[in-house]
Amino acid sequence: MTEANETDGARGSTPMLSIRGVTTGYGKIQILHGVDLTVQRGQIAALLGGNGTGKSTLLKALSGLLPVWDGVVEFDGEPIHQLRPDQIVRRGLVQVTQGKDAYPAMTVEENLKLGAFTRSDRKGVADDLERVFTFFPRLKERRNQLSATLSGGEVQMLVIGRGLMARPKMIMLDEPSAALAPKVVLSIFATVNQIRATGVSVLMVEQNVRMALLLAEYAYIIRDGKILIKGEARDLIKDPNVKLSFLGGTVADTSREIVA
Ligand SMILES: Nc1ncnc2c1ncn2[C@@H]1O[C@H](COP(=O)(O)OP(=O)(O)OP(=O)(O)O)[C@@H](O)[C@H]1O
Ligand SMILES: [Mg+2]
Repeated sequence: MTEANETDGARGSTPMLSIRGVTTGYGKIQILHGVDLTVQRGQIAALLGGNGTGKSTLLKALSGLLPVWDGVVEFDGEPIHQLRPDQIVRRGLVQVTQGKDAYPAMTVEENLKLGAFTRSDRKGVADDLERVFTFFPRLKERRNQLSATLSGGEVQMLVIGRGLMARPKMIMLDEPSAALAPKVVLSIFATVNQIRATGVSVLMVEQNVRMALLLAEYAYIIRDGKILIKGEARDLIKDPNVKLSFLGGTVADTSREIVA
């Protein structure tokens, strides 16, 4: 574990996302108790932790869906914690919704175009649609098919694709591999890897801790609304505490493919 994330000046620019002392909750119930987290430009940060520890709550607060009670959220060097959800999307921070949020009665292409709701440049939107189809050729084959007819993995591709249609600087993924078969999980992780390669930063909530640590540069482990452990992913994967609590043994060789 290192403190290098915040202090490493070698990358030479402000982080993509910087969260300091963030608290929030529902009604009078406080869920997050002063969360600090940084995502460097062009990197993947993983947010890991057990059920009900506040991971989705943090993403909602970052997206503007929940008010930030206290603390600071800076995105691309500007404070965003008082902005509305649509303003945050326009700044380039996009939360990929859960797979169940695809509109079943709309076609694949219609669903994807919804993701471009903040944009009026039709040529750019058409180009980005083709770009999404290069990430997900299956969606291209099914572009005129109703989303209700897609498999679970294809719906997950659809919601990630829809997020990319906003041309984000950074995406936030809430358990993109949930309830998917291992082969499909690999393909989703490989695509997240490709998305990073295009310069988009990523904050990824995952239950699939081993795979997330292989993919991400940096990781945070949250418990009871507080960051408990943070560090370079390659260090955490070897950390005895992390191994004991989350990994249950050694790293599976099959997972290595994604970072090859
Ligand atoms: N709309 C809500 N109203 C009241 N409490 C909520 C609401 N949504 C979540 N909570 C509570 O906030 C806490 C954190 O929930 P959250 O959804 O952030 O957890 P999580 O880390 O994403 O868990 P999981 O891994 O199960 O998705 C939980 O105790 C949950 O019951
Ligand atoms: Mg959650």
